[in-house]
Amino acid sequence: MISPTMSLGGIDIFQGLLDPQEQVALVDDLRAVIRAAPLFAPVTARGKAMSVRMTSAGRLGWVSDRGGYRYQDRHPDGMAWPEIPARVLDLWRALVSNTRLPDCCLINFYGEGARMGLHQDRDEVDFTWPVLSVSLGDEGLFRVGGIERGGPTSSVWLRSGDVLRMGGEARLAYHGVDRIRFGSSRLLPRGGRINLTLRVVA
Ligand code: SIN
Ligand code: MN
Repeated sequence: MISPTMSLGGIDIFQGLLDPQEQVALVDDLRAVIRAAPLFAPVTARGKAMSVRMTSAGRLGWVSDRGGYRYQDRHPDGMAWPEIPARVLDLWRALVSNTRLPDCCLINFYGEGARMGLHQDRDEVDFTWPVLSVSLGDEGLFRVGGIERGGPTSSVWLRSGDVLRMGGEARLAYHGVDRIRFGSSRLLPRGGRINLTLRVVA
């Protein structure tokens, strides 16, 4: 079993788990996913533009639009989501489970100035499995609180190759990304940050 390098608000953090070569290979896999299921610009249920762009791989993908937040089996443009890359599933097998694989791999892309407000991941039916989160590219300031909105929070800069596991009590912890350091990594030639979250939905 691989041990976390630190814990923050009950979240296990595996810093530098993916070496630079693995990060490059993963980005290549993700480029193929994005070619098949392009990044789109989601809006909240109230119609406010989110600053990240996103797409998914897997049986289900997460979407947000005027109809609200939900999982669905099609990209907004109508195609089925691509399969979750084998390399991503290997990471899940190493850190979560060999038997139950994730239903969804959400891909968030943070360009310059993008952020994500504090929220819980709670659109899934099953909260017994952890959420696994992979950071690639530019550094991002990740903030985590408790399971109640408005409680104390703590922060950590996530770097390319870091992996988080949010399970147990921390499965429903509030979390978000305050800002990224645009251009801090050379993994993505035009800058930006990619975050993958792997989830069991139902
Ligand atoms: C998310 O909560 O969906 C994204 C977290 C991150 O970008 O690190
Ligand atoms: Mn989240």
